[in-house]
Amino acid sequence: MIGNDIVDLRDPENQTIARHPRFDARVFAPDERAMLDEGADGERMRSMLWAAKESAYKFLRRSIPGLVFSPPKYVVRLSSLVAASVEAAGRRVPVRFDACEDYVHCIARDPRMAAEEIIARIVPVAGGQESVVVRLAAIAALAEVLGEDPESLRIERNERIPTLTRRGRAVPGTLSLSHHGRFAAFAWTSRGCAEVVGAIHDGVSGALPPAAVSSFRCRGRRDPGKSPRS
Ligand SMILES: CC(C)(COP(=O)(O)OP(=O)(O)OC[C@H]1O[C@@H](n2cnc3c(N)ncnc32)[C@H](O)[C@@H]1OP(=O)(O)O)[C@@H](O)C(=O)NCCC(=O)NCCS
Repeated sequence: MIGNDIVDLRDPENQTIARHPRFDARVFAPDERAMLDEGADGERMRSMLWAAKESAYKFLRRSIPGLVFSPPKYVVRLSSLVAASVEAAGRRVPVRFDACEDYVHCIARDPRMAAEEIIARIVPVAGGQESVVVRLAAIAALAEVLGEDPESLRIERNERIPTLTRRGRAVPGTLSLSHHGRFAAFAWTSRGCAEVVGAIHDGVSGALPPAAVSSFRCRGRRDPGKSPRS
């Protein structure tokens, strides 16, 4: 299982949210608000917390039908500038951040899953069509990794949850999509599906860095911290 979320740190929406007096009270738990008050880079931290909550929700919703996204009930505990856990629905979900001056990208994963088992990519979006852009990017990358003809792959929606299909049948694995502002992102894992994991590792051995792969290159790369959207 997997869930991901991206926040465009330069999206004007972030500024509006950060200045809205009731936003933090509505969205963040008391400990999180304390972190925002104490931290030097509150806007960046706000984005990290938000991305962690959404990623964890997308992760949990796959195994808990009908789960409602109530942001203050997804409590984020940072363990470092790149890792945190989210407590929600009686579970603790580990998340990792990949951040630079332009975006915060967060992936929630099964605690038993290694970062190497995840393929993620961030793609620029210009002129709208973010849902189409992220699907095309995911299909192109996963077709290569799985050794499939891109024409044979589709991304279906079931209650908004994306599923990768090959000639109409679900490909074993989990796909998560996200988009905000100038960016879209996907994360994929075939963890738990031995034959496909084998195919992925055979297909790309040495070609991918261990964890996330960004096709968008940030200008000044740095560790996390700026703001979310509702
Ligand atoms: C899941 C959610 C947080 C995503 O927020 P968003 O602003 O659409 O943001 P993102 O861009 O990060 O994610 C969009 C992608 O997430 C995926 N997604 C949407 N809902 C999802 C879900 N429940 N589980 C997993 N993935 C989901 C879709 O692939 C979607 O892409 P698409 O719009 O191109 O199909 C939002 O849809 C939400 O709050 N859903 C819960 C609603 C709820 O609790 N309803 C109960 C009301 S009582």
